Order: sequence, then C-alpha cells, then structure tokens
Amino acid sequence: MDSDAAHRIPRHIAIVMDGNGRWAERRRQPRSFGHREGQKAVRSAIEFCRRQGIQSLTLFAFSSENWKRPESEVGALMQLFMKALEREVDELHANGVRIHFVGDLSALSPELVQRMQAAMARTLGNAALRLNVAVNYGGRWDIVQAARATAQAALRGDLDPSAIDEASFARHVCLADQPPVDLFIRTGGEMRISNFLLWQIAYAELYFTEVLWPDVNADILGAALAEYAQRERRCGLTSAQVRAAN
Ligand code: FPP
Repeated sequence: MDSDAAHRIPRHIAIVMDGNGRWAERRRQPRSFGHREGQKAVRSAIEFCRRQGIQSLTLFAFSSENWKRPESEVGALMQLFMKALEREVDELHANGVRIHFVGDLSALSPELVQRMQAAMARTLGNAALRLNVAVNYGGRWDIVQAARATAQAALRGDLDPSAIDEASFARHVCLADQPPVDLFIRTGGEMRISNFLLWQIAYAELYFTEVLWPDVNADILGAALAEYAQRERRCGLTSAQVRAAN
C-alpha cells in the first residue's frame, strides 16, 4: 500500500447489519437473541468510527420491508430500539455523538418517536461522530419524498421546474447535510443493496463480508477500511487523471 492509500479514511460509512437471525439460529436461540447481540456490535462500530475520526456512520436498523417479518420479531426489534434509547443515549452524548434518525417515523409508536426526537434534540450540538439510524427507511421512499418536496417548492414558486438539477434535488434527500457515503458495508454474506441509501451511494465503494453482524468487531471493520484505502476511486475519471489530482 502506498503512503497516500494508507491514510485514505472514508468520511461516511453506511452499514447493512445483516446476519443477526442466522447468528441466533446457529445457536438454537430465537432470532430476537441475535438482534440483542447485534446491539453489542453496534456499540463497537460506533466506538471504532469515533476512534478512526470518521465523520458519519449510517446504520440500517429497520427497513420499510421489515414490517413483513413475524409480529413477534417486529415487536422485539421495537422494544430493543426503545431500550437502546433508554440505556445508550447518556453515554453517546458523553462521547460527543450526535444521533439522527432517518426514515418514515410516522408509522412508529408515538412513544418511540418522542424518545427519538428527544435523543436528536439532546445530542444536536455534538460533533465527534454523526450517527444516523435508519428506521422504517427505504431508498425508494427517500427519493419519492425528495421528489415530493421538490415539487412542493416548485408549486410555491420557490423553484423553477426547468432549473431542477441534481444539486437542487439532492438537498431534499435524507442525509443531505452530510458527506456522501464513501464506504458501504454489508455483513452476512448477501451481495445486495436491499433498498438502502440508493441516491447517497452513487459513488460509494461497496464492501461485502460473510461475517454475521453480531460477530463484527474492530478487526472486521479495520479490514474493510484497509480494503477501502486500496481502492482507486475514479468517479468517472481515468487513473492518470486521479493520480494527477492527488
Ligand atoms: C438484519 O439481520 C438485522 C436487522 C433487521 C435489525 C438490525 C438491528 C440491530 C443490529 C439491533 C440494534 C440496533 C440499534 C441501532 C439499536 P437479519 O435478521 O435479517 O439476519 P438474517 O439475515 O440472518 O436473518
């Protein structure tokens, strides 16, 4: 690895935390046990990103499709989110983490939404790490809600429809105030995006690992970062142009 590559750190990492269910089933435990263990891996990922000086970490905690899971599993996940908000916010706040939730929160229980909003308000001034948790989120939903907001701006007369471009549209997409996703990680062996951040990962490097989410630790994330540092991010340029720009 050249010395420049060794210092290439992603500004924004997005993770599909897959494999909790299989991790539990392999141990003859209920799937909810895997989600609880997955929470420990969430803690180590946050700590890892803070130590590495990564600006933003976005975690896919519950997709808009996850409602189709058995009611007991959905209930266990909602309980887990409630408890996590109860137990983790003090420490995250003390560590300078700013918490932000993205997704269609209108379908969640009012109590959960109220706690999410309280956590966001409390940690608003923190800058050590931005932690985005996607709950009831879908990439297509995100693009549609941005299209709606763009259309409303045009209807109000704030935006000329013929002037709509990528930059004006991108302002309405979730996470617009943060750096673009540089590194997209999916654990659990599947090689899919599964309707996560579709707009935001346009130029992200994709990294897939067989490791199940509850087994993820600093070594696993370190390997993803090492691989990222080796990649040449051309974004449409030639290798020679990239080298000349660096
Ligand atoms: C996917 O694994 C994981 C989820 C749908 C839930 C992720 C939730 C956590 C890690 C819990 C804690 C999160 C926070 C932010 C407090 P899966 O169930 O699809 O696993 P499988 O592919 O093995 O079935």
